[in-house]
Amino acid sequence: MGFPKKFLWGSATAAYQCEGAWNEGGKGLGEWDEFSHGNPLNLNNESGDVSCDFYHRYEEDLNLAQQEGQNSFRFSIAWDRILPDGRGRVNQAGIDFYNRLIDACLVRGLEPNVTLFHYDLPAALAHEGGWARRGIVDDFVAYAKICFEAFGDKVRLWATINEPKYYSYCTNMVGNYPPNHRCDFDRYYCVLYHEILASAKAVSLYHEMGLPGSIGIVHDSSNVDVAEGTKNPERVRTIADFFYNRLVLDTSITGTLPAGLVPFLRDEGIDSSFAKDEDAAVFEQGKIDWLGMNVYNRMYVTDYTSGETEVFHNNVGARAKTKEGIRIKDWFETAVDPTTKRNLWGREIYPQCMLETLQEIRERYGDIPVYITENGHGEYETPNEDGVVEDDDRIDMMQGYIDKMFEAMESGCKVLGYYAWSPMDLYSWVNGYEKRYGLVYVDFATQKRTPKKSYWWYKDLIEAYRKQHEMQGAES
Ligand code: BG6
Repeated sequence: MGFPKKFLWGSATAAYQCEGAWNEGGKGLGEWDEFSHGNPLNLNNESGDVSCDFYHRYEEDLNLAQQEGQNSFRFSIAWDRILPDGRGRVNQAGIDFYNRLIDACLVRGLEPNVTLFHYDLPAALAHEGGWARRGIVDDFVAYAKICFEAFGDKVRLWATINEPKYYSYCTNMVGNYPPNHRCDFDRYYCVLYHEILASAKAVSLYHEMGLPGSIGIVHDSSNVDVAEGTKNPERVRTIADFFYNRLVLDTSITGTLPAGLVPFLRDEGIDSSFAKDEDAAVFEQGKIDWLGMNVYNRMYVTDYTSGETEVFHNNVGARAKTKEGIRIKDWFETAVDPTTKRNLWGREIYPQCMLETLQEIRERYGDIPVYITENGHGEYETPNEDGVVEDDDRIDMMQGYIDKMFEAMESGCKVLGYYAWSPMDLYSWVNGYEKRYGLVYVDFATQKRTPKKSYWWYKDLIEAYRKQHEMQGAES
């Protein structure tokens, strides 16, 4: 495949994390609005109420992205702006907002890449059981239909759901995202399954509607890497892969549930009654056109040793020393590689996972087109005396991952785009605002935007790619 002539260089956001305007424009209440307004598990006591005020300032942010040389912009639609009650009554002001945003992208040469669900469930649906209720599948498809009808003539790149696995993991295993269930395996698989089913139904509807674009799903890339010295490497790999990847990837790409998953769950005493025979046809008809991969880290695992199931997670940064991971009794546990760097929230920084995950996708699923829909680095940051953030660590980190992406492309992986998370600083789920990811610094008190050093690095990188590959007639 090599280097495509038209590569999408963009950046990515999500509605709740950047829009603010939580109670404006006819928006309904979201599950995250409720969580952020007083739940004791909201550890840093922050909310997305205002964030970087993208709802009002999107033109400024898009100008900066355009001037940086980007040619695509990834954002999500807030379900509760379109359907304030989750279903039924449509909010025209919400439709109008996203039409303005899409037009603003198009006029700047930024291809909109639009995600329908990025963690932010309407509160009304959350109260009914959220993604654990099978009926949500049809609610999601009804919402998707409204979006396809309203924006489908202009949006050519759609994603159904952002990180179904990570969403289910945080809401049901870690318990840090609402509705805050902990180590609940029944709910983890059930929520994940309903998301995949809803995604497949929406994909199939999109295809039936004959709109001029393509549709995918976004997975948080979690390639399983079994630590050296593991006694049962094949068992650990299979179970960890069932836990992290297979339900999303096999089902969305090949249209069939991963072989052996349901019997495995049954044997392990996990409720698998969510899986119905009639779903097979839905999966078969709902195969995605492309795969979005949010690439941050690998899943480095080994044999389970001892102790009860426990999740290790850090939403308070340098105030804790927790290394991110999990121990699942009798299955596997996260291994610690002392030679791999970590960010201050305890997550590995491991560029090699970009290459490995892309090659694994190609080996398993062939030439499915892939977009790197997110990659970025969270940091505490303060501008220097000239008001500029010199974020060399972010530059090093992202350059390392991009080099590995290029290596994967050279080896034949079909990668069509890369999106930096995120264009400007925004809300980081539960972590609040101290954990910054932007290429542009946002002073949240004044809403002033100032490009960081990484902004100029990204601009140069995009320019260099274009000179080298686009102008010299690389493969299209
Ligand atoms: C991705 C999500 O998993 O990682 C984003 O799609 C998120 O929404 C990003 O913000 C970074 O994670 P966090 O938790 O550090 O904000």
